[in-house]
Amino acid sequence: MADPEPAKQAGFPHDLYRWVLPADNLERPPAKIGLGRALFFDRRLSLDMKESCSTCHDPEKGFTDQLPTSMGIHNQFGKRNAPSIVNATFNILQFWDGREPALEDQAKRPILNPIELGMPDEKTVVERLNSAPEYQKAFMDVFGHRPNFDDMAKALASYERTQVAFDSPFDKFIEGDDKALTDEQKHGWSIFNGKGRCMSCHGVNGVQPMFSDNRFHNIGVSAHNKDFVELARKGLSLVAQGGGREELDRLAIQTDLSELGRFLVTQQPHDIGAFRTMGLRNLLVTEPYFHDGSQATLWDTIDHYNKGGVQNPYLDGGIVPLGLSEQEIDDLVAFLKSLTSPRYAEAAEHEFAAQLARSKTDRPQRDVDGAMGTKGRNDQNLSGPFGDIGPDMDQMKEDPAQLGNQ
Ligand code: HEC
Ligand code: HEC
Repeated sequence: MADPEPAKQAGFPHDLYRWVLPADNLERPPAKIGLGRALFFDRRLSLDMKESCSTCHDPEKGFTDQLPTSMGIHNQFGKRNAPSIVNATFNILQFWDGREPALEDQAKRPILNPIELGMPDEKTVVERLNSAPEYQKAFMDVFGHRPNFDDMAKALASYERTQVAFDSPFDKFIEGDDKALTDEQKHGWSIFNGKGRCMSCHGVNGVQPMFSDNRFHNIGVSAHNKDFVELARKGLSLVAQGGGREELDRLAIQTDLSELGRFLVTQQPHDIGAFRTMGLRNLLVTEPYFHDGSQATLWDTIDHYNKGGVQNPYLDGGIVPLGLSEQEIDDLVAFLKSLTSPRYAEAAEHEFAAQLARSKTDRPQRDVDGAMGTKGRNDQNLSGPFGDIGPDMDQMKEDPAQLGNQ
């Protein structure tokens, strides 16, 4: 599961793949990829020598940890769900809030984050690498000099770029194989493009092969947190003080301000609670869902959309009640399943069966009246693990633009 994937796959965007390579890391000889692979699985990159990238990005779990939020050194949990590194080379920006531009920049952050791999500084990391004869040799072979932090990141990114997974039934359908999708899945695809409005953010085309517009939207996930509006107020004053990339990483991973999403990066009020539109490929190996891992099944994510998300002053205008029937929800999930690549087909079948069974009895986000518009949105009596009521409606009477001035 950790081996490089061949590029000969239906739907693989060859031109885009070349286009997204950074100019200073174009060459990817096997030795560089091999070095990156060794680093990716090496526990010496963590302070206590117990964790590696693969702790949270496990190849057997679609390069995720399948936890709501990730656990780093000394069993400490961060605030965010670990996305897969599969196809991550196609992200225009990395992380749920896009705070790092390329894989090369991203790779440095978890190594230095105090509750992920916990290394104190770049120098200590480089010393560790230098004290291992096999790394001395490998860096010399690939880069022509001893290990340094930038080259380490380049090697890691080069390995990550070998993890590309397309070739799904949907890709074959688009290439002309009408039988690749079931009737249910075809119906789901039309709901995806029509009544479900998914396409407006999860559009797919030659430059968006991941079903993501690579933009940031508040779809109301943060608003599960009852103090969300209060947090926004606090964040507005705190974040304006600045603090650099490491500080930003710490705020995003370790503090409640994590829920402010893209706002931490841009400090624009319209980005409060906005997160990157996540890609939709291979979802049945990357559960649970959303930036906080708050939804266990695909049915729950669609129930969230169906009722119009959770109300909050910054909710994206595209999030409205959808009025989807149970059959339409099932078909939409069937369609999402058709985005599974062959390498994950078996695992996805298993997870699909488990989620289907769960969907029959356990639907914490279901709000049929809200979805059908027969009653106000986000019924206060709705129960569920998140007491899913959104922030106090009185708080929302205020002009959002005035929030920071309290
Ligand atoms: C303790 C768990 C943990 C470790 C260790 C870890 N990651 Fe992550 N990774 C995460 C989480 C959580 C996120 C999302 C954080 C965010 O968006 O704020 C993430 C995000 C990413 C992303 C961005 C994916 C996307 O779609 O935006 C990449 C790429 C990645 N990690 C690669 C790595 C590499 C390379 C290493 C090792 C150097 C590593 N990770 C170590 C948990 C971890
Ligand atoms: C207004 C833009 C927008 C629309 C419309 C939209 N999404 Fe999303 N989607 C997002 C964003 C943004 C996220 C990440 C949100 C977060 O975690 O806070 C996301 C996340 C998801 C996820 C979770 C992915 C993961 O790996 O955790 C799924 C599944 C999903 N969307 C499916 C759908 C479906 C199905 C529809 C149509 C019913 C839809 N989306 C409509 C923007 C949108």
